[in-house]
Order: sequence, then C-alpha cells, then structure tokens
Amino acid sequence: MIRKCMFPVGGYGTRFLPATKALPKEMLPVVNKPLVQYGVEESIEAGLNYIGFVTGRGKRAIADHFDISYELEHQINGSTKEQYLESIRHVMETGVFSYTRQKEMKGLGHAILAGETLIGNEPFGVVLADDLCVNEPGEDNVLAQMVKIYRQFRCSIVAVMEVPTDEIHKYGVISGELMKDGLYRVSDMVEKPDAKDAPSNLAVIGRYILTPDIFEILRHTPPGKNDEIQLTDALKQQCQDGVVLAYRFKGTRFDCGSVQGFVEATNYCFENIYQQGDNS
Ligand code: UTP
Repeated sequence: MIRKCMFPVGGYGTRFLPATKALPKEMLPVVNKPLVQYGVEESIEAGLNYIGFVTGRGKRAIADHFDISYELEHQINGSTKEQYLESIRHVMETGVFSYTRQKEMKGLGHAILAGETLIGNEPFGVVLADDLCVNEPGEDNVLAQMVKIYRQFRCSIVAVMEVPTDEIHKYGVISGELMKDGLYRVSDMVEKPDAKDAPSNLAVIGRYILTPDIFEILRHTPPGKNDEIQLTDALKQQCQDGVVLAYRFKGTRFDCGSVQGFVEATNYCFENIYQQGDNS
C-alpha cells in the first residue's frame, strides 16, 4: 500500500567539514556501513522497496553504493571476503532505486517537492538518513511502526520524541491532542522555536509518512525559517486542512547530523550489532 520512500540527501553536511568536502555525509561509515544504508535497510524492512533519492552535486557516491561494482564482484567472488557484501547485496536485490537532483538547497520542503517526480500520486515515506533509528529487539522498526498507523488513519504522520528544553530550538515542534498512547492529533507545528515559544517538548525527527497532497501545498509554501521552504510549514497547512498525526515512536534515535550523535551511534552499533556478529 505504501511502496515508496524518499531520501532527501542534498544537504551540505557542513557540521562534518572537512570530512564532507568531497564525500557525502550520508556515506560516512557508522562502524562498517554507510549511514544511508541503515535508513535504506529500515525502509525495505518496512516494505517500502522503491527508494527515491533527492540528491545534489557531489553525491554520486550514493548512487554508486547501491549499484553493482563489477570489478569488486569479480575480485572477491568465491572468496571468504564475500560475507562482507551480504547486507548491501540484499539491499540491491530487494530495493528499486531512482534519483533526481535538487538543483539548489532551499530547504527540506524544497527537496521533497523536487522528489515529486519519483513518487507521483501516492502516499510515501520520508527518511532523513542523518537520523539513525534502532528498534528494541523483536519490535518493528520506526518506519514499520508508522506504516501500521497509516493503515488505520490514512493521513500524514510525523515521528516525534521528547527532547530537553535546551535542545528544542534544533527541531520542528508540535502541539496536539493525545488520542491514545503515543499518538497525537497535531494542531500546530513550529520550526526551530526558541525554548520559550515552543508549544511542547515533542520534537519531529527524520521519519515521515506523507500523503501526496503535500506536493500541492509545498508548491505554495513561501520560504520560512532561515529563508528555506520548510516541510514543517506545509505540514502545518495540512493539519489545518485535515488531519496530521504525531507518533511517539518506540526505539532510539541518534542524531548523526551532529558529531556527538554520530559518535554515540557508532559506539552503539559497534557494541550491539557489530560485536554481536553481524558484521555485514
Ligand atoms: P540539515 O539541516 O541536517 O542540513 O538537513 P545539512 O546541510 O544536511 O547539514 P549541516 O547542517 O550543514 O551539517 C536535514 C536533512 O534534509 C536534507 C539533508 O540532506 C538532511 O537529510 N536537505 C536539507 C536536503 O536534502 N535539501 C536541503 O535543501 C536541505
């Protein structure tokens, strides 16, 4: 029912300079796997096999990563090193990849509108790969949890988490009415508010399910905070016209767009995934 997932990967990743001067930040490895692959694996596991990247200049390594490397395949075919390609081979076999470019970086809303051509007129997921999400053992991953909610409510859904007051200015923040455990009907959204203006401590993270009317709204959304076209502003419009839900997901999210979050994710993945024997 939801088949497609959009990955806006156009951002410059300035917080990781100089590492990101020639390398997309989405290709930085968390232990032995590029950040973006974690997000793509989450999407495919949630049943969203059609992966659409909205890229920018200097991001070609992402397309190469999800394509066959004939030379490498030839070199290690039949050797013990083949095990290291297991996870990416699985992703390449199950995923269908398409790409478009955002010509100018005018914000997340602008990136999503640029990705319309990859989605068409159907509901879709959005993953911001900088947010690495891990689920509790035996639980669905975050996107899969959201797909289940979509099946019931058929509207846009944003993933939220509680954040401390001194960090609220980094996020889109919702206010809403609690419908049932962990699920809110959104009444307002503000992008990166000052702590004193924040309507709650529930911050939006990089997982969304969007209904396709968002594209028409984005076409008419003027630049907002930081002079960028903000997805938050379009979602606010969508919740005024209809229903948008916020879901307090089960699991842990690492902010890999920041150096500290990236190091925390690396330590977590090393201890809980790599050392447990899953080294592909
Ligand atoms: P960020 O706010 O983290 O920006 O974007 P950034 O440029 O990637 O990183 P810094 O702040 O310079 O270090 C959040 C997400 O939105 C995407 C980014 O790729 C990232 O996944 N994005 C943002 C776009 O695709 N296009 C844009 O114009 C802006």
